[in-house]
Amino acid sequence: MYSTTRAMLTRCVVHVRRGVSAYGTFGRRRDGSRPLQQHANKSAVGGGTARTRTLSHAHAPKNTADVSSGVFLGSGALNAGARVEVNAQTLVLGIETSCDDTAAAVVRGDGVVLGEAIASQAAIHGPWGGVVPNLARAAHEEAIDAVVAAALAEAGTTAEALSAVAVTCGPGLSMCLRVGVRKAQKMSAQYCLPIVPVHHVEAHALVARLCAGTEAVTFPFLALLVSGGHNMLITARGVGDYTILGSTLDDALGEAYDKTARLLGLPVGGGGGPALEKLALEGDPTKYKFPVPLRQRKNCDFSYAGLKTAARMAIDADIGGGDGDDVEWDGLDKRQTRADIAASFQAKAVKHLEERLKRAIVWAREDTPDLSCIVVAGGVAANATVRSTLVKIAEDADLPLVFPPPKWCTDNGVMVAWSGCERLALGLAESAVDADLERKHETMDPRDIHCNLLPRWPIGEKDSRATRDNIKSAKTARIADPLRGADGDRDISGSSVRAAGIE
Ligand code: KG4
Ligand code: ZN
Repeated sequence: MYSTTRAMLTRCVVHVRRGVSAYGTFGRRRDGSRPLQQHANKSAVGGGTARTRTLSHAHAPKNTADVSSGVFLGSGALNAGARVEVNAQTLVLGIETSCDDTAAAVVRGDGVVLGEAIASQAAIHGPWGGVVPNLARAAHEEAIDAVVAAALAEAGTTAEALSAVAVTCGPGLSMCLRVGVRKAQKMSAQYCLPIVPVHHVEAHALVARLCAGTEAVTFPFLALLVSGGHNMLITARGVGDYTILGSTLDDALGEAYDKTARLLGLPVGGGGGPALEKLALEGDPTKYKFPVPLRQRKNCDFSYAGLKTAARMAIDADIGGGDGDDVEWDGLDKRQTRADIAASFQAKAVKHLEERLKRAIVWAREDTPDLSCIVVAGGVAANATVRSTLVKIAEDADLPLVFPPPKWCTDNGVMVAWSGCERLALGLAESAVDADLERKHETMDPRDIHCNLLPRWPIGEKDSRATRDNIKSAKTARIADPLRGADGDRDISGSSVRAAGIE
């Protein structure tokens, strides 16, 4: 499966304007007291050259935040927060269970992907029209051991040979995050592995540095992150250092795709987005005059609830089927009408992305003139219309556009493992979980084990130009500190994190 990766790497940078220096090499340590064993140099089956994806102290991005995430999954800061050398001998296992994919991967410190595995739950949740948390947790629990074992086997390695384990601890569904975090903690204790807490949305953005190379995607860059749960534009100044230029006031685009696909009666077992995209190929995107969202608001926020409602009204009027939730479609009835609605929905959805991205380029350049590129990531970035439309905007702005290959746009273990490499290098890892504590946990009811999760972990602060009337911000009482959060900004003993982040 990796034989094609090199080819994908060359395709994921659409337009490279300039090359910039890479970001260094680093070695590994298992805990604060002794150096890690060096991993035997195995044959690399991942993509790209190590040259473009090494991480060096000498060339570290100027604005890299020297921060601690303040998340405690292990036994406190590894090496007292000192940077760690990460290089081709470093092997990081990444575990992702934040939503409906159980994924794991082993990535080398120089960005070579050695093995990956994923168990998708799309077929489980498809009939329900959305992710059902209890079902998701049960499916993660059933799959996690086999997925991790498959990733290690494909990498031709064992847990003993790992340098660290990285795991998504937020944002996401608490009961799902817990499955991955507990697996990582058990492995950390058993094999004495440093543990790296990973922010899911940051991982979507950082995987672009693995795909296109750290020479192409240097900080600062602009990122458009579009998935089922997130829709935002951010300026990425360094690992852990992000400013939110705009985010969605209601639905994320992936969510709107999923819901509209279901209303159209499409089989959503393989995901609503891909199903709608496929049907839209047969439709006329100008047939339905749906509104482009938020035209009156001259900012970088998004809204997809209105467009979703407009599509629903067209479905009710021209197709019928009540509230549409349980529509069963034989694939033929009013196919052209359905295709026209799908194409018209997609056209306006992508137009909205296009308009917001254009403004975000202007905003970002006002205070960050030296952007290296635009990264578009998250599940919806797998959409061909999104990809082809945004290429033009990047060209007009004379900025390279970087898309990870589709399989690394949707949730995957590689992005978590790579974020683990980046954070490990910067001293943002934690020492191994205490083995005695973990033995105690084995005797406890799993539901009673305390586990620091951050289901609503913001990726950063909002830009001052961004609107402040974000509807979802009503839940701020449960929102954890931003991903950024330098030492001294807050109490990293964990009290604020616990108050905000516990399920
Ligand atoms: O990043 P992701 O796997 O999970 C989240 O973090 O949410 O994104 C999943 C979302 C789903 O809503 C799915 O319908 C959407 O990404 N998606 C697409 C396409 N592939 C996945 N949406 C539109 N077109 C696609 N080709
Ligand atoms: Zn995601």
